[in-house]
Parts: sequence; structure tokens; C-alpha cells
Amino acid sequence: MEKIMLELWDLHKIYSVEKSGVKYEALKGVDFQAKEGDFIAIMGESGSGKTTTLNIIASLDTPTSGEVVIGGVDVSKMNNKEICKFRRENLGFVFQDFNLLNYFTVKDNIAFPLVLLNKSKKEIDEKVNELAEQTGITKLLDKYPYEISGGEKQRTAVARALVCDPQLVLADEPTGALDSKNSDQLMELFQTFNEKGQTIIMVTHSIKSASKAKKVLFLKDGMIGNTLDKADRNDDEFEEEIANFLYNSGK
Ligand SMILES: Nc1ncnc2c1ncn2[C@@H]1O[C@H](COP(=O)(O)OP(=O)(O)OP(=O)(O)O)[C@@H](O)[C@H]1O
Ligand SMILES: [Mg+2]
Repeated sequence: MEKIMLELWDLHKIYSVEKSGVKYEALKGVDFQAKEGDFIAIMGESGSGKTTTLNIIASLDTPTSGEVVIGGVDVSKMNNKEICKFRRENLGFVFQDFNLLNYFTVKDNIAFPLVLLNKSKKEIDEKVNELAEQTGITKLLDKYPYEISGGEKQRTAVARALVCDPQLVLADEPTGALDSKNSDQLMELFQTFNEKGQTIIMVTHSIKSASKAKKVLFLKDGMIGNTLDKADRNDDEFEEEIANFLYNSGK
């Protein structure tokens, strides 16, 4: 039986605006489940709640109500210390703006999550080299982030996100800052890792990037409006279906 990797149960998020105190309901009951090995794209208009949802899954933010269960563990009931440990051991992130540490080399950036987990130098070196090879950045390991290109930074960020073999990889607009060639390469990398069993959840505005996923969720005003399954379609066919869906829903 397929294992359920992620469960979101009736997630609500109410922000209260700092200055005015006015309340704003960004999520209005998001329900969703992802299986182990899923590759899911979250799409939706600006302000629809994509980043809020991702940040709550990542436990970088807390829901006002509802539950987040990852690999059978109810993350929403954990205290801060437990959350930090869980996040380090089970989740990988790829942020829109890379979030690389500029005073660390590419190698040390990738190694950082393992250092936090107190892994041995030998284990760290092996794992970093393995990921650098898979992401095609072996030659860059001694460079600093300001000495590499945008696409290379993004691949470094992916290597860092995957270095602890996380149960779940979360990516917010991972191709947002990339040209089409680098976007395609990054999506191929995600597909390769996904084929090996890595579960991935990715927020994107790009129809092309979304078409590489197995399923697309559309958020609308803080709720999941629709989902599209790729099923046995290829990337191009799925891209066309997503485009048609967006065109028709915008009418
Ligand atoms: N800290 C906050 N305080 C108040 N309102 C917030 C806060 N963070 C987000 N919001 C509001 O919640 C809604 C959802 O925001 P979110 O960042 O999830 O949107 P998004 O779908 O990721 O949009 P984008 O595509 O522009 O990144 C927005 O209307 C936003 O203004
Ligand atoms: Mg966002």
C-alpha cells in the first residue's frame, strides 16, 4: 500500500495585520493529501495562499487551526524544539531567492544541514560529493555563491535541500529567478529525484514547470479550487491541459 506522506486537514490561517490589527483570512480550510513519491505543483494567483500553505507545511509558520501530518507525525502539535529537530531531519527546502550563505563555499553551504545534525566529516564529505555529482556542480564546490551563476546557485540550493535525504522537499518558486534553460534543467533534476522516490511539493507560477509534476493543485482565495492529475500524459500534453484549464477558469 502506498504510504501517505503529507496530510493537511482543514487548514485555516488568519493573519492580523500588525499596524491596523485588521484580521485577514489567508487560508480558509485547505484539505489535501500527498502520497510518498508524489510530485505536486501548487499554482494560483498572487495572494491566493501558496506561500502561506508551503510555510505551514514547512512549519516555518503555524496554522490558526487545522492539522499538518507528515509521515504520520502530527507536526501541528509539536513544540518549537521538537519542530526544529523534525524539520532538520525530515524536510528540505528550496527557497525562491536561494538563501545561500555568502561567506560559505558551495561545499559548506551544501554540508550545512549535515553539520547541524552532527554527522561525521567522512559522512559529510561523501554525501556532499554524491549530491554535487547528481546536481552537476562538482567543479564549483570551492567557489563562493557570488562566484557562480543563478542556475548554479539554484542547483546548490537543491543539493543542500536533498543532502539529508529528507522525506519531503518543499520548493517555493524554485524557477522564479531562472531563465528557461536553467528552469528546464532544474525541473529535470526534480523529476530525476522524484523518479528515485523523493516526494516534492513545489509552488510555481510557471505552467511549464508545473507540467513536470504529477499533479497540480490550484489555490483560489485560500482554498483548493481544483486539482489536475497528469496520469499517463507526457509533459507537453499536461502543459497544454494546465494552460487550457487556466484559460477557461480565467474567463
Ligand atoms: N504576515 C502577514 N500579515 C497579514 N497578511 C498576510 C501576511 N502574509 C501574507 N498575508 C496575506 O495572505 C494572503 C496570502 O499570501 P501568500 O503569501 O500565501 O500568497 P501567495 O499565493 O504566495 O502569493 P504570491 O504568488 O504573490 O507569492 C495575501 O493576501 C497576503 O497579503
Ligand atoms: Mg508566494
